[in-house]
Amino acid sequence: MPGSKIIATGRFVPGQPVTNDVLSRVMDTNDAWIRQRTGVAQRHFSAPGQGVSDLGAAAAKQALEAGNIDPASIDYVIFATMTPEYVFPGSGPMAATKLGLQGVPALDIRQQCAAFPYALQVADGLLASGAAKRVLLIAAEAHAGMMPWKRWDRLRGEGGPVEEGDADFERATRHRGYAVIFGDGAGACVLERSQAAGEGLLYTHVASDGAHFDQIYIPGVGFLAQPFVDAGVLAEERELPQMKGRELFKLAVTRLPDAIRKAAAGAGVEVSDIDWFLAHQANDRINAAVRDAMKLPEAKVPSNIARYGNTSGATIPILLDELRESGDVKSGQLVCFFALGAGLNWGASIMRI
Ligand code: UT7
Repeated sequence: MPGSKIIATGRFVPGQPVTNDVLSRVMDTNDAWIRQRTGVAQRHFSAPGQGVSDLGAAAAKQALEAGNIDPASIDYVIFATMTPEYVFPGSGPMAATKLGLQGVPALDIRQQCAAFPYALQVADGLLASGAAKRVLLIAAEAHAGMMPWKRWDRLRGEGGPVEEGDADFERATRHRGYAVIFGDGAGACVLERSQAAGEGLLYTHVASDGAHFDQIYIPGVGFLAQPFVDAGVLAEERELPQMKGRELFKLAVTRLPDAIRKAAAGAGVEVSDIDWFLAHQANDRINAAVRDAMKLPEAKVPSNIARYGNTSGATIPILLDELRESGDVKSGQLVCFFALGAGLNWGASIMRI
């Protein structure tokens, strides 16, 4: 049976790159540590007032232009983010409207870093059922607002040297575990039903485990509390993400190989037949461990985390767009997309591209 096919891709990252050395202006960290432990060399941050609907719309415009696609032919938008402009509503309708798609359904999904395989499965279901003919899938993240420093002037090299005991520097250092990995950006792709048997999305295996919700989450600014936000949240720094990095790392390196094997089995292909493994870019060491566990050649698991850091749900579509642009990922090849993130959510998709 024909599956859903990606007919165009696009990407967008905001502003100028922020290197690891620049990051060490606002917290106690250094380039060597970040590179060795994560693979990240630089990341981008959105400007104040530049939200995910802006980043996502920019990536979507690239995709539509690259594929020479009439925006009016898009009849469904799926929008993935964990950093929406507002607690509610979601950012999908705003992104759609910025693309001139008023009236088109815009479904917000929040599978965080695992968004891409989930979104592919949803898009495929919409296309297979006939509910949609052309789906625009957008993943966008603006993590800048959850960074643990307030002194953005220092990041820009302004405001003078940091004094011993500086409260802003110490606060950022307390949260440096997550702060060094995330960056902002957006990826987009357009999907439609393939006409050829054995082409397009062959199978997706996705899973969740809410028992691990607190491995990476924002404890404050949520509706368990009444009121849902107060001064105590800020005093206790509960508006910032908490991440159990080592535990998450271990979960990723066990669950991802399992998801890849299940997706391959569901698709009826051998893991060794897969040409590309496009992994969520959370940490190069996670992907190296998955590679080792599955005995995958390094060249089949490309990385771009050095340039962008972890852009959560956007990492895979950004990577895919780069590899299509460079001509590395070619039509007819077999691609596995895999990701794990907050929730926990994780999964893998197999696509004949
Ligand atoms: O995409 C969303 C899902 N997120 C993930 O999948 C993240 C998964 N986890 C990770 O990527 C890693 O756990 C981290 C990159 C977050 C941390 O790496 P780690 O190797 O687990 O480091 P650690 O937290 O165990 O810290 C090791 C050492 C500590 O020093 P001591 O106690 O050994 O002296 C930390 O204080 O490194 C120190 N450290 C840092 N040093 C400089 C921790 N963070 C930093 C930092 N800069 N940013």
